[in-house]
Amino acid sequence: MIVISTIRDVAKLAGVSVSTVSRFLNKSGYVNAETERLIKDAIEKLNYSPNEVARGLAGKKTNTIALILPDISNLFFSDLARAVEDVAATYGYTVIFGNSDDQGTKERRYIETLKKKYIDGIIFASNTLSREDSEMLAKLGIPFVCLDRGPSEKNGSVVRSKNKEGAVMAVRHLLDVGCRKIAHIYGPQDLITGKERLNGYVQSVQVFEWYTPTLLEPGDFRIAGGMAATERLLERHPDIDGIFAGNDLMAVGALKALQRRGIAVGCQVAVCGFDGIQTTEITTPELTTIAQPIYEMGAHISRLLIKKIEGVLEEDRIYELDVKLIARDSTLRRKVPNEQG
Ligand code: RIB
Repeated sequence: MIVISTIRDVAKLAGVSVSTVSRFLNKSGYVNAETERLIKDAIEKLNYSPNEVARGLAGKKTNTIALILPDISNLFFSDLARAVEDVAATYGYTVIFGNSDDQGTKERRYIETLKKKYIDGIIFASNTLSREDSEMLAKLGIPFVCLDRGPSEKNGSVVRSKNKEGAVMAVRHLLDVGCRKIAHIYGPQDLITGKERLNGYVQSVQVFEWYTPTLLEPGDFRIAGGMAATERLLERHPDIDGIFAGNDLMAVGALKALQRRGIAVGCQVAVCGFDGIQTTEITTPELTTIAQPIYEMGAHISRLLIKKIEGVLEEDRIYELDVKLIARDSTLRRKVPNEQG
């Protein structure tokens, strides 16, 4: 049974009055250092949060959910946020957003703040949710679900794409268009998305005699990281004719690095990304990518959380959605313009 501590429990354990605790919590008057220490100890021992009183007494929902994203400046996450908000609004919920930059400390600060903001539920699209965090949220009765990256150990429902299958699809396409030495710029390996795509690449290429682990280069899911990784790959393997990048921003970086060297993208080196963000439609050449069902992912996770908030009990599980290849000119292998014949 979950016991929700009250301000009275804190006052009793600290040996002070309720008004003194209230003064400390609201910073609305003087509390001496020793009393402050006693109150803080009691709050920690009881895992008390002011919000619990409001929720316990009022028993009301606020129809507000929070979405913690790694970086909303990446169109993948802003497209996700759009879907989450659209669907939440149809059920009468508003959404507040926060960027965690995949930092556990930032995420925990959000959790602490959200505990006091009468939030009905939280969607985590980052990967740092610890077992302790999720147990604390459960104790406080705050439903949560995970999107895209999800914590390594399963705690709560997760919605993500079929990352490994998508990577296999990318390599298959590069082979189909004639690539015979394909490199992979991989995403952060503390993220299941980066790890699964790397696994899919290795599983697909390890059978070929040209494969060597030096065709693997780390990236950071950002444009600059994709550029730098491509430079390093070309230094090691000037004869590569295909690059599979673990997300579209790194693929854009690869395009820039190749073009800076006067290498024709497509006919000399084919490039494929992963995500399916709109940027892939405005690059030159347009970028081939493995498109994630971004809107569907956001819509699905929003419905899952709202069901949890409204007491529709469902088994926690992992939902993996299909991805699809969008072939464009960055993998079109027509002859190099100045090639004869
Ligand atoms: O572009 C950001 C990447 O991080 C995406 O591939 C998404 O899957 C997330 O993991």
